[in-house]
Amino acid sequence: MTGTKYVSWCLALLLRLAAVAGLADDGQFLYNGFAGVNLTLYGAARITPNGLLKLTNGTVQQTGHAFYPPPVRLRRTPSTKTNGTGNEKAVLSFSSSFVFGIVTADTQDLGGHGVVLVVAPRANLSTGLANNYMGLFNGTGSVGSASNHLFAVELDTIQNPDFRDINNNHVGININDLASRDNDKAGYYDDDDDGRFHDMTLISGDAMQVWVDYDGDTTRVNVTLAPLGVRKPARPLLSATHDLSTVIMGESYIGFSSATGTLSTQHYVLGWSFGVDMPAPAIDAAKLPKMPKRRTRSDQSKTMVIALPILSVVLLLFMVSCVILVRKRYNYGELREDWEVEFGPHRIPYKDLRRATERFKNKNLLGVGGFGRVYKGVLPKSRLEVAVKRVSHESSQGMKEFVAEVVSIGRLRHRNIVQLLGYCRLKNELLLVYDYMPNGSLDKYLYGHNNMPVLSWAQRFLIIKGIASGLYYLHEEWEQVVVHRDIKASNVLLDSEMNARLGDFGLAKLYNHGSDMQTTIIAGTLGYLAPEITRTGKASPLTDVFAFGVFLLEVTTGRKPVERDTEGGIHMLVDLISAHLDRETLPMDMVDPRLEGEYNTDEASLVLKLGLLCSHPLPDLRPSMRQVMQYLDGQLPFPELVPSHTSFSMLSMAQSRGLDSYAISKSLSSMASISQLSSFSSGR
Ligand SMILES: *[C@@H]1O[C@H](CO)[C@@H](O)[C@H](O)[C@H]1NC(C)=O
Ligand SMILES: *[C@@H]1O[C@H](CO)[C@@H](O)[C@H](O)[C@H]1NC(C)=O
Ligand SMILES: *[C@@H]1O[C@H](CO)[C@@H](O)[C@H](O)[C@H]1NC(C)=O
Ligand SMILES: *[C@@H]1O[C@H](CO)[C@@H](O)[C@H](O)[C@H]1NC(C)=O
Ligand SMILES: *[C@@H]1O[C@H](CO)[C@@H](O)[C@H](O)[C@H]1NC(C)=O
Ligand SMILES: *[C@@H]1O[C@H](CO)[C@@H](O)[C@H](O)[C@H]1NC(C)=O
Repeated sequence: MTGTKYVSWCLALLLRLAAVAGLADDGQFLYNGFAGVNLTLYGAARITPNGLLKLTNGTVQQTGHAFYPPPVRLRRTPSTKTNGTGNEKAVLSFSSSFVFGIVTADTQDLGGHGVVLVVAPRANLSTGLANNYMGLFNGTGSVGSASNHLFAVELDTIQNPDFRDINNNHVGININDLASRDNDKAGYYDDDDDGRFHDMTLISGDAMQVWVDYDGDTTRVNVTLAPLGVRKPARPLLSATHDLSTVIMGESYIGFSSATGTLSTQHYVLGWSFGVDMPAPAIDAAKLPKMPKRRTRSDQSKTMVIALPILSVVLLLFMVSCVILVRKRYNYGELREDWEVEFGPHRIPYKDLRRATERFKNKNLLGVGGFGRVYKGVLPKSRLEVAVKRVSHESSQGMKEFVAEVVSIGRLRHRNIVQLLGYCRLKNELLLVYDYMPNGSLDKYLYGHNNMPVLSWAQRFLIIKGIASGLYYLHEEWEQVVVHRDIKASNVLLDSEMNARLGDFGLAKLYNHGSDMQTTIIAGTLGYLAPEITRTGKASPLTDVFAFGVFLLEVTTGRKPVERDTEGGIHMLVDLISAHLDRETLPMDMVDPRLEGEYNTDEASLVLKLGLLCSHPLPDLRPSMRQVMQYLDGQLPFPELVPSHTSFSMLSMAQSRGLDSYAISKSLSSMASISQLSSFSSGR
């Protein structure tokens, strides 16, 4: 042995002796936290920078031991040993107190084993197994053996039936064994509550204090538990007599053992005191290091404290929005009935239309007609540009028939007809969805607003032929006879290529081919109404032809079918033209002056004559649309127009009077449509 080694060995021995002597001298120690304290640590045990004794760090299947380094003499010295009366006096009274905390990371009410205060013959318990043996024993072979010389107080958080554990939250006194001699569920008798028992949860993560007292004279062991800060309860949790004289050896080591099982757990000791033959000094709770932030159930409950209000708010918002949605839907009043199922594909949800038109914003308003407002929109899914017409209707009677007709009209397919895409039904409203016509209605061009371009004759002639073609399709080509009933310039729409398309089938009526036309309430627009309608009330293809005739004159002359002069007199366009016919001169000076003479004279004169023929007061003298097409195409020679102004003017006057007698109070200049007289459903 070298000198240096000898010196250090001597020093170590001296220190060790001093430590033992020190304890023997004042017989106690006190650690309010372990910062800078010299403990013998094994396994996972560490002292944290803030002074916590951390026995396990959360890794599973882990043990940690910490011992007061010098051995403690718990037996009387041979000199003081008395013979005769008994060995019970062999072990001195001692007491120890400590503050601990157990933190589990698991959501279950389970911790991985617990904390044990142990008095053992050696400090090196590193062979102790973690699982089930609390780090104290290295297998079943040694468990229960008297050779262990082990006295322990366990704070057990696992119920192991092998060792007759009462539950997973108990305190026990163990001698050489894992099966406790005495045990009870964790808790304390509260002196401030008339000694009533209060449960405690070892794995709560809260710091709690334990007092272990052994009376060498009576061999009584008391174990007391209480939350940190609670004065030591007068009544211990466990109190039993155990003669430790055969258990505790002459030199013993006192310390802690902890083990995690399969569950991640952290075991902490915050403070510790010990006394032999004297009480353990009181631990000062104020000086103890703080337990780490909980990751346990209380952590989760903290999370819940934060999360719950957020969740509640989210839930509340969700419910509120649900209510709003439901109410909106209710307020929208979108109607949907069983009979509509068959029209399903034509049914467009209101919310789509609402979105398409940006909630029917005014900036999307295309126009206001006799029936209602028309909005431009873009359907959300298809991005299709549409015109949405909102038509109010009061009664639900006949609605089914009407929708059926709408759907039928929706099946019409012609290049000169505005495609009806679908409908939507509200309580007092019907929404009709059409293809959007970017160039608007023809009347705007004819009666130009100044900034509207003037349509050339070629364009006008193309429009005329287009509408004739569309009307022919309605009257003769389609499976049913469709009487449009409201042919007029404002119902002729222009697509992106200035092709004319007949729109607004709001008044259209369907008939089976060959069947009688039904009497309906007069509908149409003043100036376009065939005179017989006012007498018979019957709309027919020939009443459409009459209106088409007026339309021809309108397009050619650029004048409205009915004009009011400065004296308030009403002048019918038909009368004006036929007056010229009377003079046997073609009224070429009636052609729209804005064309500035730029027109095909033959075509213009043909159209004017055809206009007069179509709007002949006697329906039988009007051509069919098939004939109209043939005239326009030059396939059929145009018949000689017999000047018969008498009949023309007479009947025209009759028509005017008839209309007057219908008491149309609408201003003529506003071109009011009397179609409002007709509800969609009534009279059908
Ligand atoms: C801690 O105590 C042990 C045993 O008494 C001793 O060997 C060691 O030197 C001490 N360490 C410190 C830092 O005091
Ligand atoms: C826990 O301690 C063990 C040694 O016992 C170590 O290997 C492991 O890395 C530690 N884990 C953490 C999270 O500190
Ligand atoms: C002390 O007791 C032991 C047995 O308990 C006995 O063998 C021994 O003789 C006794 N000694 C004296 C001095 O009485
Ligand atoms: C503790 O005991 C184990 C096994 O008996 C041994 O391998 C280890 O070296 C000991 N540790 C110390 C610090 O004595
Ligand atoms: C347990 O430890 C004892 C001594 O400490 C030893 O004799 C025994 O073989 C060990 N058993 C196991 C299973 O390691
Ligand atoms: C143990 O507790 C009882 C009260 O239940 C008390 O009378 C006795 O003095 C206590 N003993 C110790 C060693 O504290």
